[in-house]
Amino acid sequence: MGPDHGGRLNRAARDYDIPVGDWLDLSTGINPRPWPVPAVPTEVWQRLPEADDGLDAVARRWAGAPPHAGCLPVAGSQAAIQGLPRLRPACRVGVPQPGYAEHAWWWQQAGHTVVPVAHDAVDGQIAELDALVWIHPNNPTGLAVPVDRLLAWHATLAARGGWLVVDEAFVDPTPGISLAPWADRDGLLVLRSLGKFFGLAGLRGGLLLAPQSVCQALDQVLGPWAVSHPTRWLMARSLADTVWQTQARQWLADAASALDTTLGRHGLPPAGGTPLFRYCPHPQAATIHHELAQQGILVRLFEQPSALRFGLPPDSATLERLDQTLARTCHATTS
Ligand SMILES: Cc1ncc(COP(=O)(O)O)c(C=O)c1O
Repeated sequence: MGPDHGGRLNRAARDYDIPVGDWLDLSTGINPRPWPVPAVPTEVWQRLPEADDGLDAVARRWAGAPPHAGCLPVAGSQAAIQGLPRLRPACRVGVPQPGYAEHAWWWQQAGHTVVPVAHDAVDGQIAELDALVWIHPNNPTGLAVPVDRLLAWHATLAARGGWLVVDEAFVDPTPGISLAPWADRDGLLVLRSLGKFFGLAGLRGGLLLAPQSVCQALDQVLGPWAVSHPTRWLMARSLADTVWQTQARQWLADAASALDTTLGRHGLPPAGGTPLFRYCPHPQAATIHHELAQQGILVRLFEQPSALRFGLPPDSATLERLDQTLARTCHATTS
């Protein structure tokens, strides 16, 4: 069985015997105010997707990728996470610890040796690695390693034919730190997602920006029509909607700051995060997680190290509900 994830609301509803509709789900880093999805024309549902539909140009412009970089739409960045390890012979790959666990799992499934690395240990370990996955910014900690450091890691690996795979699923609130502008360099692979910032996790849309040869190889592994026509159509429109993107960045920044105030008031000051989620280490994280769930609020629990991750409440009424629930919960755990 693969790693566990947030967003399993049906399971929580069963475990705690609370109807799905009564929950406040803060267990993911998905924007609770999604890009407003328009009606998809009937012919888009009817016709097979075609690679020359113009999505490529929109996606490059949106990401700031150079003209010679490859750009492959994928069914969520998860599809690339699963497929990329199949493109290399068995090697030693570093993965961030803590970090989104799917990377380690799929490299391991493909027969590679996985080496968990802390951000401050990469420089000491990089000589022993053939590939390094970096989550930028990290999920769950929110840590963002400076771009020049990532480029230095890339240069070290690429000089030996190695890869730096940069998972930028959560970069959209801060696009200035993306490595997409360097995605034509040999051995630099950048993953983007439409699931988080755009709030469209169910769409299953993402991108691989990388040298053309790598995009072509992954395309072959994934096979024809791997991204549905409605998904491609909606990707092109959401990526081109810069007005919505600017407004969303502002709202996320404001909502994250309001959430920090609430969490801080209850002894859970975030140690990090991104505007899409806040990361709160706490020795009694498991107890708080359970007590919140008993009251219909689902957050994400991490055991190593002991921490909670809070997604953004969609509005002031739900923030208020969290505030009141925490007032009962944290009181219980600290008294
Ligand atoms: C860091 C990170 N990368 C990638 C993904 C996969 O997202 P998607 O397949 O929706 O693009 C996730 C999902 O939670 C994630 O947390």
